[in-house]
Amino acid sequence: MSRHSLNSLADIAHKMVVDGRGILAADESLGTIKKRFDSIGIESTEEHRRAYRDMLFTAGEAVSKYISGVILFDETIHQSTENGTPFPEQLTRQDCLPGIKVDRGAKPLALATTETITEGLDGLRDRLNGYYDKGARFAKWRAVIHIGHDGRSSIPTHQALRANMHALGRYAALCQEAGIVPIVEPEVLMDGDHDMARCFGVTARVLDLLYRELFEQRVALEGTILKPNMIVAGKGASEQPSTEMIAEATVKCFRQTVPAAVPGIVFLSGGQSELEATRNLNTMNRMYAGEMPWKLSFSYGRALQASALAAWGGKPENVPAAQKAFTHRARMNYLAARGEWDEAQEG
Ligand code: 13P
Repeated sequence: MSRHSLNSLADIAHKMVVDGRGILAADESLGTIKKRFDSIGIESTEEHRRAYRDMLFTAGEAVSKYISGVILFDETIHQSTENGTPFPEQLTRQDCLPGIKVDRGAKPLALATTETITEGLDGLRDRLNGYYDKGARFAKWRAVIHIGHDGRSSIPTHQALRANMHALGRYAALCQEAGIVPIVEPEVLMDGDHDMARCFGVTARVLDLLYRELFEQRVALEGTILKPNMIVAGKGASEQPSTEMIAEATVKCFRQTVPAAVPGIVFLSGGQSELEATRNLNTMNRMYAGEMPWKLSFSYGRALQASALAAWGGKPENVPAAQKAFTHRARMNYLAARGEWDEAQEG
């Protein structure tokens, strides 16, 4: 490794999942944040995006106590709070690590029908060095895996899995060279009517291929964080598993595929409601307390922000109510990552 030691990467990764703290994914791309703002009827201007993220990053205990790091979007890492503090500095002052989304989105995979390949490797070394200088200490890259049938064959295909896991490996190696901890995110989507067993099978294959790639590309697992989906049934499936079934299948899948050297696994919410995402995380940590080699925590986008976004509604006078809603969700997930959450605490 060049100028950065494995020790400092491992220290950062450890800090990202310490004692129940987790990650806020606030790295919505311009297209995604527009969808979120459309849902509350406000226009996605640069100032609205800044004001919204300002509300989140100045929410006191949410950021200083329950959240260990925030994933930013390129526009956001260059923005500042109302009183002029650059966002990365605002976070760092509260003992919260700034992170950065560096992929450039999922694009159609050549010669495939519906599957995608995540792009963004060209020029990534220079971009990572620039982000490091801006304060980023971890990064995120999301590969998207679809379950279903695309007219020719059942998906995911081996072609799509290999291409996406290879890209995740190259991204992770470049991050570590730049002193940045890579969050590796292979998201198996909840879209479809497949059952939980199918999600288990696909996720296990994905994780197996991912860790082979990371090994081949010399990535030090101690300085990485995994961001996966939970093992659930498709949204359209007629039978939905209980939280205990989800917890059991998810931990079993990881035990078979995720090396013990990985310090932490932080879930995406992927379309689960705020309550489901919290409950499932808590069930795992309660059922398997002391029996897992890695920490299980959260890196939610929608499941940390949905109530806060609705309470904010684009109005400055609603900032205190929105911050209260955000702090509540952050605290509930912090408790869930410690296996200490209880539905009664939801209030
Ligand atoms: P969700 O929790 O809304 O799925 O977002 C997390 C994320 O960062 C997906 O890349």
